[in-house]
Amino acid sequence: MAFVYINAKKFLKGEIENPESLQNASQEYHGTMSNYYTIRIKNRQTGTFHTVRVPEDEYILHSLEAQGLELPFSCRNGACTTCAVRVLSGEVYQPEAMGLSPELRQQGYALLCVSYARSDMLVETQDEDEVYELQFGRYFAKGRVRFGLPLDED
Ligand code: FES
Repeated sequence: MAFVYINAKKFLKGEIENPESLQNASQEYHGTMSNYYTIRIKNRQTGTFHTVRVPEDEYILHSLEAQGLELPFSCRNGACTTCAVRVLSGEVYQPEAMGLSPELRQQGYALLCVSYARSDMLVETQDEDEVYELQFGRYFAKGRVRFGLPLDED
């Protein structure tokens, strides 16, 4: 929730009468206002393309949802990688993305549920389980797969 603080003297003198003045009053009080960035999103699952504006101080996924755009998610805590995207251009800040290895971050992956935009960005959603496979596939791909119960061994 955002609050706007109004200088009472200016308000009573009629110096604050439109929303732009209120915004300026808020900026005066806080010293700064959020920067907004444009994010272009290619949703590979639905074949759709979206362009949205997000503030720098709000999780990207949360901001997209508030604007009516639904993307895949599950844990919302940076752990499951369901919300992962590939950042094709731009900068993202994601200190809480514990579900992503440093290598995958280096490769340009980001978890939108715990990411902040730091510039205009172009991203695309991952293929289903793409990040999970990249991160853990090597551990499950080793060894022969045997069907049956362990006690069925000869
Ligand atoms: S929803 Fe689980 S990591 Fe983002």
